[in-house]
Amino acid sequence: MKIVMLGAPGAGKGTQAKMIAQKYGIPHISTGDIFRANIKDGTKLGMEAKQYMDQGLLVPDELTVRILLDRVSNEDCKDGYVLDGFPRTIPQAEVLDEALVKLGDKIDFAINVDVPDENIIKRMSGRRACPGCGATYHTEHIPPKTEGICDVCGAALVLRDDDRPETVKNRLEVYYAQTQPLIAFYTEKGVMRTVDGTVPMEDVFAAITKILA
Ligand code: AP5
Ligand code: MG
Repeated sequence: MKIVMLGAPGAGKGTQAKMIAQKYGIPHISTGDIFRANIKDGTKLGMEAKQYMDQGLLVPDELTVRILLDRVSNEDCKDGYVLDGFPRTIPQAEVLDEALVKLGDKIDFAINVDVPDENIIKRMSGRRACPGCGATYHTEHIPPKTEGICDVCGAALVLRDDDRPETVKNRLEVYYAQTQPLIAFYTEKGVMRTVDGTVPMEDVFAAITKILA
């Protein structure tokens, strides 16, 4: 099963994608996570991506597409995957589509996690991420057992560099201009589904599993 997660920054794509990956035994592929891992390791790719990410801008398509196509050609992707944060522009979606057509394949579902802007700002300021294992928390909605410490690996939690309010505003603008048009793209392909992302994460997940069942 090949799934694309859509939704504004902070809508809960990553949270749901991790749950889907676990339940269906397929890899969770987040281009944002790939870039952040490269930034942490100080790679050339990470340095390049950081210039864009810190401003809330998209990393150029050419670079992002190359990384994604390389990742999905791995052996662990043969039974499917859940993409989180890719595609993010129409050209990215078209490249992915062409690559899949060549393999006689296609995206089965695009799931839009729908959350209004007011909620988004609150979610981002409360988000805490684990730099060690990638787990995500929210100070109010999904707090760790011990404040500031990851439940899974014990590392100190951090605020993402691009979760500062001024950058969040830019990310939302970029989302409406460049990513939201993907809803029409996947609607035309007949695979678009929308879930209410404002309800508790277990309820969002229940709505998604109903669609995938
Ligand atoms: P990326 O990492 O993809 O960030 P994003 O799309 O801005 O999305 P987020 O990760 O911020 O949010 P999310 O929807 O995953 O929400 P989460 O589950 O964490 O991209 C970062 C940057 O990388 C981009 O700006 C760009 O520069 C670059 N990039 C990445 N991919 C690219 C591409 N394809 N092309 C070009 N550039 C690219 O949840 C948010 C918070 O809410 C958490 O605290 C969570 O615990 C909480 N929460 C989740 N669900 C619920 C719920 N139901 N109720 C209450 N709280 C909830
Ligand atoms: Mg995410």
